[in-house]
Amino acid sequence: MLKTDGALLASRATRVLLAAERVLVTTGAGMSRESGIPTFRDALTGLWARYDPEELATEAGFRRHPARVFGWYAWRRRLVRAAVPHAGYHALVALERLVPSLAIVTQNVDGLHRRAGSRRVLELHGSLERFSCVDARHPFPGDAIPLPEADTECEPPHCPQCGSRVRPDVVWFHETLPERVTTEAWDLAASCQAMLVVGTSGLVHPAAQLPFIARDAGAMVIEVNPDPTEVSTAAHIVCRGPAGTILPALVAALREGEGEGARA
Ligand code: OAD
Repeated sequence: MLKTDGALLASRATRVLLAAERVLVTTGAGMSRESGIPTFRDALTGLWARYDPEELATEAGFRRHPARVFGWYAWRRRLVRAAVPHAGYHALVALERLVPSLAIVTQNVDGLHRRAGSRRVLELHGSLERFSCVDARHPFPGDAIPLPEADTECEPPHCPQCGSRVRPDVVWFHETLPERVTTEAWDLAASCQAMLVVGTSGLVHPAAQLPFIARDAGAMVIEVNPDPTEVSTAAHIVCRGPAGTILPALVAALREGEGEGARA
């Protein structure tokens, strides 16, 4: 593992990316921080510092207080819709055009990667923009769901097919990840030559395994995070800084590298 300054970062990470046919980017809540969306575990501003995940991010919590939980996700959906993807998102869109193959696997439910223009995005933990009923997961149209201005109680609608309450299509604790997306993400991790790990604490499994799968399969792992994480031990290159600064710098260096015809 090598702690590096800007120039060293650009050269080591750039060489890795220039040499890679298949690049996988995995992102967490830190990727959205500079777009004004709180992370989960930031000691002060983190969602889980202010709210009880067992109450708001479990099926049991939803069944106990459906209006409380539904209102909280509807409010987050409004916050996310007001957010603007920062320069780091646009750097990933540019990176997609600079490397032969790139995919993004995100734990985020905010949809910002797609909104920025990234084409191949796998949402491991679902999306705030999708809804289904709690009993049978019958899909439910999102445009019928209100966007409250504040974090207030909001009665969820009922499924027209089975009558059970409608919930957001996000993965809650004690739930399994969507199968198709998970299979694809694990295959990509096991077959990439380079992985960028951006803005995740690496505390939530199974997503936290991805950097280790990539490393064990021989890929070079680059971490982008202002702070040390559970993933840092898997990283060959560690870039201590915010995604909105590091990712554009990486792409600028890559373009320079491309200009010099450095691609392997
Ligand atoms: P966390 O809140 O656990 O971690 C966010 C990480 O982002 C931390 O390591 C921060 O240091 C880092 N960070 C903060 N600002 C950053 C910036 N500007 N640029 C880069 N990194 C920055 O969020 P996740 O790891 O995404 O799941 O959490 C994983 C899962 O736990 C979430 O998907 C959610 C949550 O509970 C479910 O609800 C199922």
